[in-house]
Amino acid sequence: MSKNSIKVFAPATVSNVGPGYDILGFALQTPGDEVILKLTNSKGIKINKITGVKKKLPFNIYKNTATVALASLMNKYEIKEGIEVTINKKIGVGSGLGSSAASSVASVYALNHLLNLKLKKKQLLLHALVGEKISSGSMHADNVAPSLFGGFILIRSYNPIDIIKIKYPNNLYCTIIYPQIEIKTSYARKILPKKVELSKVIQQTGNLAGLIYGLSSSNYNIISRSLTDVLIEPIRSKLIKGFQEIKKSSISAGALGCSISGSGPSIFALSNSLSMAINIKNAAKLVTDNLKLNTIFYISKINKRGPKILD
Ligand code: HSE
Repeated sequence: MSKNSIKVFAPATVSNVGPGYDILGFALQTPGDEVILKLTNSKGIKINKITGVKKKLPFNIYKNTATVALASLMNKYEIKEGIEVTINKKIGVGSGLGSSAASSVASVYALNHLLNLKLKKKQLLLHALVGEKISSGSMHADNVAPSLFGGFILIRSYNPIDIIKIKYPNNLYCTIIYPQIEIKTSYARKILPKKVELSKVIQQTGNLAGLIYGLSSSNYNIISRSLTDVLIEPIRSKLIKGFQEIKKSSISAGALGCSISGSGPSIFALSNSLSMAINIKNAAKLVTDNLKLNTIFYISKINKRGPKILD
């Protein structure tokens, strides 16, 4: 018997990953958003409930990232079913952890399974991106793609879209330090320069190539040497109180590297064991407590698979 509802989890993501602005991201095991879709007799899409957010998110289906993604998919495949949507936000809005991307991904993944559309993830990608665009104002794929495919993803090209899965060491851990402020992605993009110096581009591409090589050959030393962003972090880090101190304490505690997650305010630090990831959290917490920054921490391995059906 076919089901008339489905509940899907889609993971939070760390995008940019130091030198990979707009082209590199990875998925976390925790946190993640949940979307429940229910078939109804009435026509069209309706948002029934949104939980887990302090700030109001739009119930207008043309303004909510999850339903914009769904509508795009339904238009493309001429799907006429009535769909009622519940969104359980578990990722902070404006956290830099790919909150809008996760909701978009969970929606399209859920519809694909609920209606047995048998679409490939690659076919869902574009629709999830349309959803992401409505909230961030740009069609970057470095949150959506890792949330959908899992693992580390390189977006080699946007036109045409070319997604490459990057190998990474099995015991890679991520510590997330999420100070409770909101940074709008659209603002964090607006403050970036349109042009950058060639010498900086050389440094950045050297680090990016090193990072990809270090990840795919499980060489922690090269990962560590390469996890540096000379273009974006110096500008955006000014928006995050305590960033330099948190970064310094994470590196002293043994992090392979530390930078801003997406457009911030979350900060990520990579390490090669759970005990190291916990040490980093403890070291960063001393700083955030000292600065009286209300902060949430997550420790997660890399999420290999992306979304999962919960019910
Ligand atoms: N690559 C994007 C940016 C991610 O840094 O603006 C936003 O979540």
